[in-house]
Amino acid sequence: MTELIKVMQQRQSCRSYSDKPVEAEKIVSCINAACLAPSACNTQPYHFYVAHAPEAVTVAAEYCKGEKVNKWVEQAKAFVIITQEHADIPYNNPEAHKRDFRQYDIGLMVENFCLEATELGLGTCILGVFNEEKLKANFRIPSPKSIALVIAMGYPAESEIRKKNRKPLEDMITYLR
Ligand SMILES: Cc1cc2nc3c(=O)[nH]c(=O)nc-3n(C[C@H](O)[C@H](O)[C@H](O)COP(=O)(O)O)c2cc1C
Repeated sequence: MTELIKVMQQRQSCRSYSDKPVEAEKIVSCINAACLAPSACNTQPYHFYVAHAPEAVTVAAEYCKGEKVNKWVEQAKAFVIITQEHADIPYNNPEAHKRDFRQYDIGLMVENFCLEATELGLGTCILGVFNEEKLKANFRIPSPKSIALVIAMGYPAESEIRKKNRKPLEDMITYLR
C-alpha cells in the first residue's frame, strides 16, 4: 500500500470533535495543499472564507445545520467556506470556454485540503448542506458569488478509522477493446 493510499484510507468524514482548538497555520497549510490541485486552464476559480474566530465559528455552525442533518456541526472548531469564483479562461483557448469546469476544480482541491488535514491530525467533513443566503449575509460574502461547499474542521474526538464503504472496483471499471 502506498503512503498516499494510507492517508486516503485515514481521511474520513468526521462528525465528532474534541475541544482542542485548530491552529490557524494548519488551516493555511490545508489551503496551500488545496491550491496545489490542478484546475482547468489553471484558473483556480475558488476563494476560501475562514471561520476561525470563536464568534465566526458559532455563526457558521448555526447556518450549516439543516432541518434534519448536520446537527453535530456545533462541535467543529473551524469552518472553511468555499465560494465558486469566475474562471478567467484565456481568450486564446475558445474551446475551453464551451464548458464550465469549476465544479470539477473545486472537487479536486477540496480533496487535497482534506488529505492535508488528515496528515496534520485533523478531522474534516465536507458539507453540501448549509444555508447559503444566511452565510453570505452574515459574513458579507458578495451576493453574486455562490457557496460551493463548506468544510467543517477540528480534532477528532475518536481515533477509530471506519472501514470504507465503497462500491466494488469490478463494478466501477469497464475495459475497452
Ligand atoms: C459534495 C459533498 C457533500 C457532502 N455533504 C455532507 C453533509 O452536508 N453532511 C455530512 O455529514 N456529510 C456530507 N458529506 C460527506 C459524505 O457523506 C461522505 O464523504 C461519504 O459518505 C463517504 O464517507 P467518508 O467521507 O467517511 O469516506 C459530503 C461529501 C461530499 C463530497
